[in-house]
Parts: sequence; C-alpha cells; structure tokens
Amino acid sequence: MIPDKAPKEDVFHGSEDLKKEAHINSFEKYKELYMKSIENPDEFWGDIAKDFFWKTKHTGQFLDYNFDVTKGEIFVKCMEGASTNISYNLLDRNVHERKLSDKVAFYWEGNEPGDELTVTYRELLQRVCQFANVLKSQGVKKGDRVSIYMPMVVELVVAMLACVRIGAVHSIVFAGFSAESLCERIMDSQCSLLITADGFYRGDKLINLKLLADEALQKCRDKGFPVEKCIMLKHLSKEAEETSLGSQSPPAKRSCPDLQEKQTGRVKKTRPVPQVPWNPEVDLCWHTLIRGASDECEPEWCESEDPLFILYTSGSTGKPKGVLHTVSGYMLYTATTFKLVFDYQPDDVYWCTADIGWITGHSYITYGPLANGATSVLFEGLPTYPDISRMWEIVDKYHVTKFYTAPTAIRLLMKYGSEPVQKYKRESLKVLGTVGEPINPEAWQWYYNVVGERRCPVVDTFWQTETGGHVLTPLPAATPMKPGSATFPFFGVVPAILNESGEELEGPSEGYLVFKQPWPGVMRTVYGNHQRFETTYFKKFPGFYVTGDGCRRDKDGYYWITGRIDDMLNVSGHLLSTAEVESALVEHEAVAEAAVVGRPHPVKGESLYCFVTLADGVTYNRTLEAELKKQVREKIGAIATPDYIQNAPGLPKTRSGKIMRRVLRKIACDERDLGDISTLADCSVVEQLFQNRCYTAE
Ligand code: WT7
Repeated sequence: MIPDKAPKEDVFHGSEDLKKEAHINSFEKYKELYMKSIENPDEFWGDIAKDFFWKTKHTGQFLDYNFDVTKGEIFVKCMEGASTNISYNLLDRNVHERKLSDKVAFYWEGNEPGDELTVTYRELLQRVCQFANVLKSQGVKKGDRVSIYMPMVVELVVAMLACVRIGAVHSIVFAGFSAESLCERIMDSQCSLLITADGFYRGDKLINLKLLADEALQKCRDKGFPVEKCIMLKHLSKEAEETSLGSQSPPAKRSCPDLQEKQTGRVKKTRPVPQVPWNPEVDLCWHTLIRGASDECEPEWCESEDPLFILYTSGSTGKPKGVLHTVSGYMLYTATTFKLVFDYQPDDVYWCTADIGWITGHSYITYGPLANGATSVLFEGLPTYPDISRMWEIVDKYHVTKFYTAPTAIRLLMKYGSEPVQKYKRESLKVLGTVGEPINPEAWQWYYNVVGERRCPVVDTFWQTETGGHVLTPLPAATPMKPGSATFPFFGVVPAILNESGEELEGPSEGYLVFKQPWPGVMRTVYGNHQRFETTYFKKFPGFYVTGDGCRRDKDGYYWITGRIDDMLNVSGHLLSTAEVESALVEHEAVAEAAVVGRPHPVKGESLYCFVTLADGVTYNRTLEAELKKQVREKIGAIATPDYIQNAPGLPKTRSGKIMRRVLRKIACDERDLGDISTLADCSVVEQLFQNRCYTAE
C-alpha cells in the first residue's frame, strides 16, 4: 500500500515553481486521488471521460473484467456501450472546441540539422482526413488491418490517424526491423495494405526502406499471402532528384511517378539516393493519391472495445506477440498519464525521443500528447548526429519544457561528460522522463544534476507495450524521488509482489511484479491468439496479470524493478527474446545449436552473448562469425545484432538435456562462482567454455 506520508530522507523533490502550477502538487493529494481511483474507479474515470467526445454514452460498469483463469476466459471491457473516434478527439475536438487550430501539433526536426517542418492542428486534421479518404478509395474498411513501415516523419502520424479515422487497425512495424520481421508481422495480422517510404537517413547511413518493404512483400507472396497494395511516401526522392546522382537513380520507367512534392531542408548535401524499385501492379504513390482527395472525412464511430491497433512485442517462445489495444480505454489512459506524469501545461513544448514504431511513440508521441492538444517535437535523427550535442541543441531551438528519453541514451551521452550538454542553455526544461529499462542511479544522478541542473524532477516511468501507458511512475510535483525507483502506481493500478508459490508478500519484499486489476489502457488480447494471451500473462498466478519483471519494495513502499525474470533481454530499452535470436542463428547451416544470454553492457544495459555449437565438419572462423551476425541482423533487425559469438563445442546441459542458461550467463560475465551445478551432465564443458570466452565485442 501507499504510505500516508512520503519519506523525508534520501529523496529528491520537484521544484517549488513546478508545484505552484502542477495538477497534483503534493503526495497527500496523490494518495487521496489514488485511493479514489481504486475504490471508486467508475467515478474517477467517469470524471475524466467527461472531457472527451462520445457519440453515444457508456452504459453500466466502467470497467468489467476477469483476471482469474480458473473462473473462465480472461477479459477486460471498458466503457461498454460508448462509441467515439480517437482521431476526432485528438484533432477535431482541438480544432473546433478548444480553438487550437493554429497551435503547433508537431515541430518536425529531420535527421539533418536544418531540415524542419511545422504542422498545426488544423493542418494535421486536414491531412489526416485527406489520407483517410485515400485509404477508403483503396478499399480499406473498418476493422481491416494496415501495416505501416515508415521513418519518423509527420506522414507516419498522418497514416496512423487516417487508419483510426476510418476504424481500420494499424500495425506499425519499426523501420529498423528487417524484411523478414516485417513479412512475419504482415502475415500474422493479415494486413491488406502496406504504407512505407522510399528511404531515410539515420545519421550518415541510408536505409533503403522501399527495397526492404518490397523484399518483405515478396516473402509474403512466396508464403501464399499476397498484399495487393503498397503506398509509398517520397521522403528522400525529391532531394535525390535535386542532387541527381544520375547513375544511382532508378531507371525512369521503374521509378515512382510524380516526383513533385518538395522536400524542405536548408542543408543540401550530396549523398546517395534511395533505390526505389517500382511495381505498378502493387505500388501507389502517396503524393499522387492525396492530390484531389478531399480534406474532409466524417469519422467512423467505433465501439469502445473495437480494436485500435496491433503492436508486436517479443515473446519468450521466439514468435512475436501482436498486442491488441482497443479504443476508449487506451485513449483515456494515454491522455491521463501524459497529462499527469509530465504535468502537461498548455504552453509546454514536449519532446519524446522514442520512435513511433515502439509503444512509447504510440502512446507518448501520438495519442497522449495530441489528446491534450500539446505541442511536440518529432525528431527523425539520432542523439549523436551530427554531434553529441544534438539533443540539447534541439531542446534550446524549440524551448522544450518536458523531455522524455531512455536510460541507454543517457548513458551514451554521459560517456562524453558534461561539456557537450553545457554548450546549450536548457533553461526551458522543467520535467525529465525516462523509460525502457531500469535506470542505474549513476545515470539518474547525471540526468538530474547535469541535464536538469537539479531543477527538474526525473519521472522514471515503468510500463510495457502490454500496459498501454505508465503503470509505476512518480508524479513530478507530488512524489519524492529515489534514483533508480519507479516509485508508486499510477491511478487505477494495483501492484503486488508474489513469491514463487504465488503468495502475496507484504511490506519490504522482493519477487514477481503482478497487477491485481485492470486499468483502462491494459491490452485486451494477443491478436489472433487469445489462448497465448492467457498463458503468457495469467496462467502462472491465477487472478493476476504477470508482468515478467522482478521487483523489490523497500521500507517506504517504493517499487524498484529488478529486471526481467523470463527469457527476455533488454537491449537499449528494447525487449528481445533469446529464443528469437537462437532460432535466427540455427537457421544458418553451419550452426547445430545456439544459446543466447545477456551480458551487462555499460550503454545498452544488456548485450547479446551467443554460444554456438557448429555442425559436424564446420570450423569456426571470423568469416563465419561475420556471417552469423549478418544472419541475425537480416532475420530480426540491427537491434538484435550479437555483440559476442563464442564457438561452443558443447553446451552445459542437465541430464534431461535442458541448457543451463544460468551457467552460460556466468561464463559470459567470467564469474566463476557457479552455484549448484550438480545436475550438469558433463562438467568439463563448462571449463572449456571459460577458457574460450570472448573478451572483446566487435
Ligand atoms: C519492459 C517492457 C514501455 C515502453 C518501452 C519498453 C522494461 C520499461 C522500465 C523502467 C525498469 C523498465 C521492463 C518491462 N522497462 N520501463 N522505467 N524501469 N524497467 O516497452 O518493449 O514492452 O518492454 O521494459 O522490463 O517489462 P517493452
């Protein structure tokens, strides 16, 4: 339970200035509202729902659910009977009711400094309507799934909200994923249409996105799932035309028609252009399609529990899970968490550095901020390009007040010391946020002291793709912070800590982090596989949603996430399943068996340490190692590239043949204290692996 009084020692407080204007400005107020949210959720959420537009009102209970597998099917229903449209709430309501039509929705900042665009709420609404009409004209209907594979451009937001406007379900695939991963996701969600772009730059590196999209569509075709249409946005092509590196341009006949729209940007560099193969039977040009499309589009009114989007997250079996979120609950939850966790005020300029391809971008670049009528920065590039001050340059350029990033980015910048940060003023900053993995206290202190100059509270937000929004988090002007702790539950969230036998632990304790009841934004199912949803999250401890994370509660009631307790790894804030990487490795003909474990990494949090047993007659060498890395990159994506690969003639197995990953983790870290290894079939394997450890990652 939440303590009545917040601790006074070893804690950090939000500034007095912040408290003056904050929505929730004391711990007592947080506690009071929290109790209300738990004891009377109907009233608590009902009051919040009044701010939104409903075509029809809900009837009956606000939240209805079953979390106990022994009592029947697991379900969560929020605001049954109500109908609405999220794009209407995010756009029309802001333009027409709140008179925010000229307010900036996004400052788009490109990869190259100087590439920039501003989009107001009115313009965003028009563009969304226009593209919604395009989707309709291509036969997309309510309930259809649409795959989106795009860089961080305004059109990505336009595409997702256009889907939402007509009741189609978007499935965004992060543009860093491979063609194989895209194909797998398109097929799993049975998407009828793909939206992509020609290409984009990440720093100096050109990503030929259309080429990857084509490869994915070819794989889908080969597997008997032809996707009939692919809409391509020209993001770089115009620039390509201007810089005109003739020999690299696609042959005229096969290139995207209609290269007229102008790409903005002051800096024109001569750089390679994307290759844009064109298949007239499938490919359609975004710019041609929107020309002439009306910028008015009546929204499709959706039921509360209609599907909103699917977003894939790694699963411990290796096959990604299509996490499904639905309309009303997700809207209320992302809007409310955004407003209270960042203490959103109308003059804020908010910046979340995540990619929209991850849940952080869905909830806290698109849905939460737009629902509040906020102005955000939408950044295409990297924190280190063209130099390591880029983030702070952007903060000053747009006067960013609320800033949200990942521990891995903080640790990366921390390596270069405070000077690159102090080159910029950062006076506008008021609240700093972090997400994705536990933040080590050292990084927290650096973020707080150097970036925020001890003025800005750090909100360490714990949540998951599955939770839809923040579930454990401080409120910046109410919760005294402890570096490294995600502190307390958000409204409506009831955490508990269980031991291995499923008993709930009271007071200071450590064990499995679970939740006892739903909040509006929790996932509803695994798309197309409700059974997997029940097995993954509800089977281990009937009656609870199991997060898969370990957690400690201290004497003051603060929650500290201790990391995953399943076969998942967290690399730079992204979850990867060891099984997924292992299966990519064994698909190589030289590999007979593979076992992957995490090894702590100073910047990424965890890195991938892979043990491979080769097929008979194959010898291990550098070329093979490079091939294996490439194989994983191509199967999954660059984020999954192994840091270490060790040739393992034998793997430590129990007599029943189970690989002892615990032992492999010790070997990867060169820790000789192995604990009990009496169940090992052959101990000599271990010594051999210790002798051949990899010392440097390449
Ligand atoms: C897993 C969820 C939620 C958006 C990004 C990741 C870890 C996330 C924190 C935090 C400690 C954290 C957990 C969680 N995680 N935020 N503040 N402190 N751990 O979404 O890919 O679904 O990963 O990320 O292990 O289960 P995701």
